[in-house]
Amino acid sequence: MIATARKVIWITGASSGLGRSLALQLAASGNQVIASARNQAELNKLAELDANITPLVCDITDDKAMDVVRDQMAQISPQLDQVILNAGNCEYLDFPEPDWAAVRRVMEVNFFGTVNCVKIALPLLRKSSSDRAHVVAVASQVTAAPFPRAEAYGASKAAMRYFFDSLRMDLAAEDIDVTVVNPGFVDTPLTRKNDFPMPFLMQVDEAATRIIKNIAARPRTYSFPLRLSALLLLSKLMPGLWQKMVAPKTDVPAKQSEESAGK
Ligand SMILES: NC(=O)c1ccc[n+]([C@@H]2O[C@H](COP(=O)([O-])OP(=O)(O)OC[C@H]3O[C@@H](n4cnc5c(N)ncnc54)[C@H](OP(=O)(O)O)[C@@H]3O)[C@@H](O)[C@H]2O)c1
Repeated sequence: MIATARKVIWITGASSGLGRSLALQLAASGNQVIASARNQAELNKLAELDANITPLVCDITDDKAMDVVRDQMAQISPQLDQVILNAGNCEYLDFPEPDWAAVRRVMEVNFFGTVNCVKIALPLLRKSSSDRAHVVAVASQVTAAPFPRAEAYGASKAAMRYFFDSLRMDLAAEDIDVTVVNPGFVDTPLTRKNDFPMPFLMQVDEAATRIIKNIAARPRTYSFPLRLSALLLLSKLMPGLWQKMVAPKTDVPAKQSEESAGK
């Protein structure tokens, strides 16, 4: 367990995976945690595990419902010291006939949903009783390199990264810090669907512990594990080699296979 000063922390995406583990660890060290997600049953179970956890059900993509969440949040606590914007979704595009609507679905949760949360959190962070409030956004190491099938997920996380890097500039004068966390592969329901090798896969509790420990110093960015960051550097240094390593090799392009079928 990590010793931190007692804070009021809103964690989104707390019904499973990283968010759940972050909520439990931060509550265990005495913080008051407001835990959000859509799955009420899972949030209730979480709250039963620690009296420092208060569930707040919300779909972050539902703009109208988020207005109600704003009022509910203010009733739970008049102020926030930290928000961990962790709720996220991953869908891959399968070529040659991708489900293009997946791009919008992923952007709705990871980008626009997260922006909805910033809108709600900011007035409460401004009332923080600590010296400096803290916005933490969970993006991904996917933004360090192009991966096949990751058009939607990678673009949503790159959009998040720019948004929060820019927000850091605007909030600096208000003494509100912004940290972008870029995890590598972590064993959660999100990655259990993956059918490809995941180098340096980490256990969820270890990943959450690392996040808590490293965001305490409020870095601009925290990427982990370092071994993965080093590997992904290859995509910048030798982009051709990177493409050869990760691009699919077996699929025949659709146009070519149609032409062969016609012959
Ligand atoms: N696992 C990894 O390897 C990895 C790597 C890099 C980055 N990340 C990022 O880490 C974050 C957590 O992911 P995870 O791996 O812990 O996945 P996870 O176990 O699937 O958790 C995702 C969380 O987001 C919530 N969520 C999804 N859509 C939502 C919506 N519309 N409104 C509110 N909450 C919503 C889910 O809860 P409900 O379904 O109950 O709403 C769940 O609590 C994500 O942002 C992910 O992109 C994960």
